[in-house]
Amino acid sequence: MNKKIDEIKNRAEGEIKNCADLKSLEDIKIKYLGRKGELNQILRSLGDLSLEEKKVIGPKAQSLRNELDVLIENKKNEFLSKKSRNSLDVTRPGKKIKIGHLHPLTIIENEIIDIFRSMSFSIIDGGPEVETEYYNFDALNIPKNHPAREMHDTFWLQDNQKQLTHDTKQLTESQRSKVKGQKLLLRTHTSPMQIRYMETHKPPFQIVVPGRVFRYEATDASHEINFNQIECLMVGKDVNLTNFKYIIQEFFTRLFKKKLEVRLRPSYFPFVEPGLEIDIQCVKCGGKGCNICKESGWLEIMGAGMVHPNVLKAGGYDPREYQGFAFGLGCERVAMLKYNIPDIRMFYSGDLKFINQF
Ligand code: PHE
Repeated sequence: MNKKIDEIKNRAEGEIKNCADLKSLEDIKIKYLGRKGELNQILRSLGDLSLEEKKVIGPKAQSLRNELDVLIENKKNEFLSKKSRNSLDVTRPGKKIKIGHLHPLTIIENEIIDIFRSMSFSIIDGGPEVETEYYNFDALNIPKNHPAREMHDTFWLQDNQKQLTHDTKQLTESQRSKVKGQKLLLRTHTSPMQIRYMETHKPPFQIVVPGRVFRYEATDASHEINFNQIECLMVGKDVNLTNFKYIIQEFFTRLFKKKLEVRLRPSYFPFVEPGLEIDIQCVKCGGKGCNICKESGWLEIMGAGMVHPNVLKAGGYDPREYQGFAFGLGCERVAMLKYNIPDIRMFYSGDLKFINQF
């Protein structure tokens, strides 16, 4: 019997040691320690033994039982910890965390602003999107019945008076007298900010004002009813077109990250004299001619000019003492050129397949 126990001990220890998985470990446990297991059979047959033998065999079988129990439990833990270690596979590629990102128009606006800031321009925030007829037109030298008003198809507001009482609370007395009885509209350009800024600041200064503008017109690949402009205004005693040309040439070169020639063409805007249309060398072909520039080598990029004396007067300045330049740049236009976007309507489409490319 003694020998039998030693033999079980050797065999069981070997089997436990070499056992390959949890399932076979469970089988080993049943085989040796189960109700009908080998050790129980020995313990059950103790009755047939002499007292002397019982005293030796009983405790010996019992302690083997405990010993095997511990061995099996340890082996089991070994398997379990190996399993959990395997489930943490440190070589596995990580899950990509989805984070938000900026809209292409915001990216462009930030870039434009950064460049102007680095050239010592102040960035002026906002201005009202609901504007009065006075600031959007009259003060900018576009009197009523002037044909130039037709260049700006306007969203007029119906509920004028209600809006005005709300609006005028924040105005100074002189501003209030200017807007009294005014018709309201969604601003058609950011140029009204030229007047608003001049009213409250003294020259010299150089500012850029980003803002959202609205036009009541049919939409197509290059027209939207709402879009974004950056208005620029620089006023001083001797600010001239040479300063203007240098600044925009530097600006476009930095924005498109290549040396770009700038071309000034005569144009007409009532609030500037002379009025200019600004072209830049085609950003795609560099001037050779391609589909983007319609083989001309040039891209029309923005309107500009020297601030009209009437506008300076409306801003409270003496046009014999001060002069300046202004321009209005369309953010969508710039983004479309820079990112090769074919249709302006994509910006507000909410289409993630488009948005997620930026
Ligand atoms: N406000 C003009 C527009 O929206 C652009 C412009 C701004 C032209 C300043 C000249 C000077 O079309």
